[in-house]
Amino acid sequence: MRCSYLISFCMLLLLTTSCKQSDTQKETSVKMNIEQRSFGNVDGKEVWLFTFENSSGMKASITNYGAIVVTLLVPDRNGKLEDVVLGYDKLEGYLEETPYFGAIVGRYGNRIAKGRFSINGQEYKLATNNNENHLHGGIKGFDKVVWDAETVEEGNSIGLKLTYLSKDNEEGYPGNLKVTATYLLTQDNELKIDYYATTDKATPVNLTNHSYFNLAGQGNGTILEHEIMLNADRFTPVDASLITTGELQPVAGTPMDFRTPIKIGARIDNDDQQIKYGGGYDHNWIINKQNSALALAATLFESSTGRVMEVLTTEPGIQFYSGNFLDGSITGKDGKVYKYRYGLCLETQHYPDSPNKPEFPSCILEPGKTYQTTTVYRFSTK
Ligand code: GLA
Repeated sequence: MRCSYLISFCMLLLLTTSCKQSDTQKETSVKMNIEQRSFGNVDGKEVWLFTFENSSGMKASITNYGAIVVTLLVPDRNGKLEDVVLGYDKLEGYLEETPYFGAIVGRYGNRIAKGRFSINGQEYKLATNNNENHLHGGIKGFDKVVWDAETVEEGNSIGLKLTYLSKDNEEGYPGNLKVTATYLLTQDNELKIDYYATTDKATPVNLTNHSYFNLAGQGNGTILEHEIMLNADRFTPVDASLITTGELQPVAGTPMDFRTPIKIGARIDNDDQQIKYGGGYDHNWIINKQNSALALAATLFESSTGRVMEVLTTEPGIQFYSGNFLDGSITGKDGKVYKYRYGLCLETQHYPDSPNKPEFPSCILEPGKTYQTTTVYRFSTK
């Protein structure tokens, strides 16, 4: 019999907030809740589903299988909570077939041309799983393994620290890579992800989260009416196999220009070579920034619910994927059918195929160095 149980506990934090109107100080108690239940078994290991809730009712459910965000309940402008990410109700869904719903992808998120690269004159050959290319870590990437999990508290935030040891030669990658991904739900309706890794041989590392968002609620139509802003003057164009060409192309005068907010559907079917290659948007934008400080990369807005999502990151790039491969063949949570462009991904990252593009920022982690990046998904309404 499957061992299934529920642990639930509450933390009452006393926060001192200043009350502007009366100019006095008042004490507010902040309630946060963590639940843990069994989600099944994989490779002889127990898989858990953790649910974190903050005091405004925002809830994130995360499993240690694939480090997947299974649900994300976010208030609309009237306070109504809805699940804004695509996924499955049960673990079996993720085991059978998933286009990386909610997962952390790695060791290298995005594509590496022909699954080949060299470091210091030594060539490595990775598993190829996207025609002749390597995509999102290979055949069994970080989205398909069981991570170790422990709940954490940091200041007013609660969350999950996930660790995984990716062994030397896993999917062809050099070195034993120790990875930590920590999800934190804050009191400000943010889901924050801190990524950390160390290695014993030089290796490419590019970790990102592959959640499919729909701010109108998962399964509730296409994302074409969402307005998007991408803080980027340039993007990295691709060839027909979606491999970056190495160029950094200005977005000005192209359908890739999202510097002022515009509906995703406005130009998605334009007669544009890059859009044709991507089957819509499936490209990396170069975030306007001078350094690796946390900076705004994207803003998404859905007018019927008023939900806003901002994406902030320390990474230099962001992949905007408009769900072009969704085709109605997947039935997800609550029996919802995920049709063409019913969800979109905003994957913060290094530029695709950077192991083969010396002109791009390096993604090579050396022994003795640490890989450390942060991405924040911040929700609000207007
Ligand atoms: C990505 C890729 C897309 C597609 C999806 C998964 O983000 O860029 O081309 O492979 O993952 O379907």
